[in-house]
Amino acid sequence: MYADRVLSGMRPTGRLHIGHYHGALRNWVRLQDEYQCLYFVADWHALTTHYEEPETVADTAWEMVIDWLGAGIDPFRSTIFIQSRVPQHAELTLLLGMMTPVGWLERVPTYKDQQQSLAGRDLSTFGFLGYPLMQGADILIYRANLVPVGEDQVSHLELVRELARRFNHLYGREPGFEDKAREAVGRLGGRRARRYEELRTAYQQQGDAEALAEAKTLLERADNLAAADRERLFGYLEGTRRVILPEPQALLTETPKVPGLDGRKMSKSYGNAIFLREDPAEVTRKIRTMQTDPARVRRVDPGNPERCPVWGLHQIYSDPPTREWVWQGCTTAGIGCLECKQPVIDAVLREQAPMRERAQPYVDDPQLVRRIVAEGCERARTLAEETMRDVREAMGLRYE
Ligand code: TRP
Ligand code: SF4
Repeated sequence: MYADRVLSGMRPTGRLHIGHYHGALRNWVRLQDEYQCLYFVADWHALTTHYEEPETVADTAWEMVIDWLGAGIDPFRSTIFIQSRVPQHAELTLLLGMMTPVGWLERVPTYKDQQQSLAGRDLSTFGFLGYPLMQGADILIYRANLVPVGEDQVSHLELVRELARRFNHLYGREPGFEDKAREAVGRLGGRRARRYEELRTAYQQQGDAEALAEAKTLLERADNLAAADRERLFGYLEGTRRVILPEPQALLTETPKVPGLDGRKMSKSYGNAIFLREDPAEVTRKIRTMQTDPARVRRVDPGNPERCPVWGLHQIYSDPPTREWVWQGCTTAGIGCLECKQPVIDAVLREQAPMRERAQPYVDDPQLVRRIVAEGCERARTLAEETMRDVREAMGLRYE
């Protein structure tokens, strides 16, 4: 249960473009080779800022899932689901809210920043303040330990870790914990039990971080252990209490900045995006008319790639010899801008062809997507419910 589990979500805000692909989705696709992955449509999160536009949520959610499938998210390996169809997320948000100081939420940097940058919307709502708290519930409910996110989300993950620590501290109390933990050590079996004790001592007495890591791996691999025993042993190891909600880690991967057609960051709202499932002729037209170095007015004027968004796309799409050719050609006026753009056009179209192909069956038959998501939601609910049973019990909500 504690084997590495990846979870991430995206708000349904419109068709996905190549900025989303290179900034996040491509990484999601790769992670499937190594981990059990859960990817979800954060529709409640979309409503924290777009509560006045409910009509767009569901449509954009389905389109986004088709974009994911087209990009290579594999429904046989990964669990794809919709947040609001797993109501346990709401329950955990509510329960975590009981122990979350309002000041923690107000201090998250994105809170004030976003309120300012989205000044056209009234974001003095309870829901918006609770955004990172809900994000915490999304993650902790699956006991996910790896969360691929962008730089902008690192402060949220920090908060989520604090929430987990606080939760375990408050509710990991259990009558007879020490005895139960020692019994659980016994159940590890002779050699592993001895090793666990050694490592625990090394960590608690010398702060040996390697010993801690090894002990965690040992517990993760001890598949004969019941979930509750494993939680106890994780807690016992670090000298805390039962770890009901393990702390997740942000998975930061170096991702390129994708310039939009006008040189600003690519964004649907700037109207400067190339969409993942865009018609090839339209992609070609967009790149051909894309902005270049403003100093290169005529073909004979040399240019500076650093001032050209096309150069930004070459960074992503071209190999070193092609980039060398661009640099040379541009700075000496040896090549024209249209010539320079052609390798980018070719590369984008090459990248998108398999995406369009993979997406087509889902476009043709929307029921296929519905079915994949229904199955994903079912799986997600089962996992979420397991955690909620422990959480309710720990918080004194047991009525059997
Ligand atoms: N806040 C994330 C974003 O805007 C979306 C999100 C919601 C998320 N819940 C999450 C990401 C849980 C990772 C894990 O991009
Ligand atoms: Fe930009 Fe290429 Fe034109 Fe130089 S030659 S300005 S890099 S499009």
